[in-house]
Amino acid sequence: MNKLLHLHTETTSLVIKADKTLPEMLYWGKRLPEGTDLDTFFAANHHPVPQARIDTDTVVSLCPEHARGLFTAPGLEGCRNGDNWSPEFTLEETVLNGQQVSFLCRDRLAALKLDIHLSLNLKSHVLSTHLELTNEGNSNYQLHKLTNTLLLPTIAREIMYFHGRWTHEFQTERKKLDRSGFILENRRGRTSHEHFPGIMIGQANFSETAGKVYGFHLAWSANHRFHAEAMSDGRRYLQAGELLMPGEVELIPGESYRTPTLYSTYSNKGLNGISQNFHRHVRNEIVRFPEPQKVRPVHLNTWEGIYFNHDPEYIMKMVRSSAEIGVERFIIDDGWFRSRNDDKAALGDWYLDEKKYPNGLQPIINCVKEHGMEFGLWFEPEMISPDSDLYRAHPEWMLHTEGYEQVTIRNQYVLNLQIPEAFDYVLDRLDNMLTGYDIRYIKWDMNRELVQPTNNCRAAFHGHVEAYYRLVDEVRRRHPMVEIETCSGGGGRVDFEILKRTQRFWASDCNDALERQTIQRGASYFFPLEITGAHIGAKLCHTTGRQHNADFRGITALFGHMGVELDPVRACEEEKRGFARYISLYKSLRQLLYTGDFFRYDTAHRESQAWGVVSLDQREAVVMFAQMDMPEYAMSAPLPIPGLNQTKDYKVRVLENSSSNIYMKQCPPWMTEPAIMSAALLEQVGLMMPVMQPESALLIQISQV
Ligand code: DGJ
Repeated sequence: MNKLLHLHTETTSLVIKADKTLPEMLYWGKRLPEGTDLDTFFAANHHPVPQARIDTDTVVSLCPEHARGLFTAPGLEGCRNGDNWSPEFTLEETVLNGQQVSFLCRDRLAALKLDIHLSLNLKSHVLSTHLELTNEGNSNYQLHKLTNTLLLPTIAREIMYFHGRWTHEFQTERKKLDRSGFILENRRGRTSHEHFPGIMIGQANFSETAGKVYGFHLAWSANHRFHAEAMSDGRRYLQAGELLMPGEVELIPGESYRTPTLYSTYSNKGLNGISQNFHRHVRNEIVRFPEPQKVRPVHLNTWEGIYFNHDPEYIMKMVRSSAEIGVERFIIDDGWFRSRNDDKAALGDWYLDEKKYPNGLQPIINCVKEHGMEFGLWFEPEMISPDSDLYRAHPEWMLHTEGYEQVTIRNQYVLNLQIPEAFDYVLDRLDNMLTGYDIRYIKWDMNRELVQPTNNCRAAFHGHVEAYYRLVDEVRRRHPMVEIETCSGGGGRVDFEILKRTQRFWASDCNDALERQTIQRGASYFFPLEITGAHIGAKLCHTTGRQHNADFRGITALFGHMGVELDPVRACEEEKRGFARYISLYKSLRQLLYTGDFFRYDTAHRESQAWGVVSLDQREAVVMFAQMDMPEYAMSAPLPIPGLNQTKDYKVRVLENSSSNIYMKQCPPWMTEPAIMSAALLEQVGLMMPVMQPESALLIQISQV
């Protein structure tokens, strides 16, 4: 009799064979029919032992082992100075607790214990997995790799992955998964703009609304490796774990290493199902707001408004102007601390610059509060400028490799937080500022990668990330009411692990609405809108030089945690009216945007994209249609809108439109006269879109009648 376990939610089933060897996932997909007999299931599903290869079954277990004749990438690699390099585990104990299961496995010869943990969340349908290896021997064990492995069904033939660079994050690309492997490695010491730790694998041509898809996200803020493989025997699997440098992890007797958590989910409704599961999981299990009932306040961030030119009188003017347009949280960005007049100096010297602020910060904070706003401040705690008092006092606190010259990136080095005194110093500075002033929000930046980081004669990527988590945790412990934004030159460091400690991420330093459409779409595969920082930038975008009207910028920034990043004092009246209008619209929509289900729609033409949010009770929806590029055709096409209550009728009307109607003599009739349509019609036939100018967007309101 096989020992089979069935974990399931309303929509998903997972069947695991847990016998004497490492557990094997036999099935993961749509919920099995009620009352399925697992032994019958096994007989119907388990693979044969083919001719001309290993005489016994070779299993792609939750940690594949070479010792059992499997020639794929092993789940564990390591040795004791060469010995014990190919372990073979036996399962000693299985602990099942609801939808959570732990497998305790041992290789007594190699003196290694391996714990494998799986947990299937009943509400989000997200599976969390991690492995933990313990050295039970009496010599050190050098760990090279320990990764999460999940077997995929043979329908998994196409990959969608993410790439990018600074100001161009969350771009998507597709590849076939057939007869070979796919590797995505990140060695930058942060999740990176270039290789976001997430991937989708599914049926060929899976779309936003259709197809069987598996979504994966590794919750780790530094180096990672994803490896998807179509094996020569037709099976497929995905591995995702931390990418370790040579010698980086060496377990002394009794010591353990735990992999980052891999979050995975299945959908048979295309990518929207994946995103909705991840969003639900982030909302319920990951992000913790200090005051959960509080609305997400509209930000004003000073960065692109004044950069390093801090003049308190002028900043107070900005505060007043911000209040006039409806801002609720005012954040002073980079430039407030001693000698920070450009990006060449002063990181580490976290003392207020008294030359710029002779009366301290208090008058500004008072002004912010008098105008009904909260105050926030920027820090980059893990950094040290070569030109800083801190570096002059402690050059040895730089994270580097002794004997080699450390490169600068944005003129700065990384502080070695693994040195207790350096950790305590920066903690003390943060604590001091947060205690001395009523600061309710920190923008925690990180503007460079780690290069050649060494601590105690070992590679120290892992150690840095752990120290960074410890630092954020301690700041939060001391100041639990302070919200934190994770930023890294834009979206260079965001993942579910740091989001357990922070409440927002800065998606990109690019505030160009057109670019933001793509960036925010990419981010939306994993993250819900309420934590995705999205700002209305200046009319002439600082990073691209493009110009867009306030409507296109406003509509785009609505789909995120909205803010404004410009100098409202210098903005013309017309622009200011635009900001005020979108801020007020945002306030009326935020409840829906931040609690509803997010859908990306499949549009007929590739120059456009569309998304929408449907309230959980399906009474309200708001839909955005963006014309990204010149329309290829003279005629537009209908946009199918799924997700509404199929038994109800809805009123459809235009809320905002950033396009002039120069390409049409006549609009689709619903645009001039609100129309009543059934949900079935909206989904099956769709809503006819107008022909729009490139770089414009339309906002549609849909309400149940
Ligand atoms: C990079 C961030 O992404 C920007 O928003 C800004 O905070 C600058 N750093 C400040 O140096």
